[in-house]
Amino acid sequence: MFARLEAELRSRLGRECLYVPSNRFGLFIALRRWMKPGQRLLMSPISADEILFLVLAAGLRPVIAPVSTRSGNIDAAAVTDLRFDGVMTTNLFGLPDDVVALADLCAERGIPLIEDAAHALQTTVGGVPVGAYGTAGVFSLSKHAGAAQGGVIAVTSPDDRAFLEELRERWLGRRYAAAELAGLLKAVARNAVAGTGLARPAWWLAEALGLNERRDGFRIPLRRNVLASRLAGVPYSGMVVLDPWIRADNHNYRMRQGGLSERYALRRLRVAETQRKQRLRGVRRLAELKTAAPVVHDHLDQPLFRVPLLVRDRDGAAERLRRLGIITGHIYDPPFDDYAPGLTEPSPTPEVARWWARHVLPVDPLLVDRAWPILASLPSALEPVR
Ligand SMILES: Cc1ncc(COP(=O)(O)O)c(C=O)c1O
Repeated sequence: MFARLEAELRSRLGRECLYVPSNRFGLFIALRRWMKPGQRLLMSPISADEILFLVLAAGLRPVIAPVSTRSGNIDAAAVTDLRFDGVMTTNLFGLPDDVVALADLCAERGIPLIEDAAHALQTTVGGVPVGAYGTAGVFSLSKHAGAAQGGVIAVTSPDDRAFLEELRERWLGRRYAAAELAGLLKAVARNAVAGTGLARPAWWLAEALGLNERRDGFRIPLRRNVLASRLAGVPYSGMVVLDPWIRADNHNYRMRQGGLSERYALRRLRVAETQRKQRLRGVRRLAELKTAAPVVHDHLDQPLFRVPLLVRDRDGAAERLRRLGIITGHIYDPPFDDYAPGLTEPSPTPEVARWWARHVLPVDPLLVDRAWPILASLPSALEPVR
């Protein structure tokens, strides 16, 4: 299954690769492979909804890390006093976590480092691709590449790959050709209209047809009591039981896929490579803005997935961009410990994450020219509470 795609990623990463139907599926089986129910996982509070739920589904206790004011990723220098049995990075918008420090910390403690490289398909640190540092790195093909869905887990040993393959087969759902085709057509349409005048009507149409995930603000409704009852009394609930939460924005995240999906993903990976220069140009141009997050200046040579601007009225800015046909996704507000209190071990210093989550405007560097007239006029967010 998906041998050509795995070979393509193996040649880029220099690691054993296994295809999975989505990044979230891959993270779940990686956590099942390297951690035991009841253990504590250090993670960022600023990430996609489904990440929290797949961690809970694996029976783990999310230990919410302090985040860096500069990057919105885990503040590696501030976690040494915390108790945890594994670490999961985010590499938010493609900006790398402090992976060298975190890898050292994990090696010292003899615990796994799982890299969520969903946003970091083209990011390197010291010449090594993000996702090739940790015990496992998990990529998403629907972000930079814009494939319909799909992901890849990168690991060091063939034995780990074989073990993960068994887990994959255990958790995969059956294939529905019509659902797969519909997903592919949706991705083709999304890629065709992105950044054009058709993006806004297409977004409204999807809203009107109920195709966009229902949200309370930016997060999916928590439905806390139902969630708690599904988590109660079992060491780990697994993906199926938490399906209504884990499937946010991707209801086929567990579905077996066929050759057409592989061909489209390979094609989109090639497109992402041809867009590399344009992406870099966008990153450098956006870095000129006074609102660009400070850490962007450290990564002007990286084709980031999104460039985070820290602006005073983020929601107003996103609305102005939408009127122009630029739909801002990947806003993760509020942080997980505010979103799901009681289900996480809260961060000792939640203020920075709150400030980041409220003010960050992720901008696609490929759309910089179109967005520029609005972006150039946005006032900066005030300094965060420390
Ligand atoms: C940081 C992050 N990780 C993981 C995912 C999940 O990726 P996938 O849709 O391939 O499961 C997302 C999705 O938006 C994400 O933003």
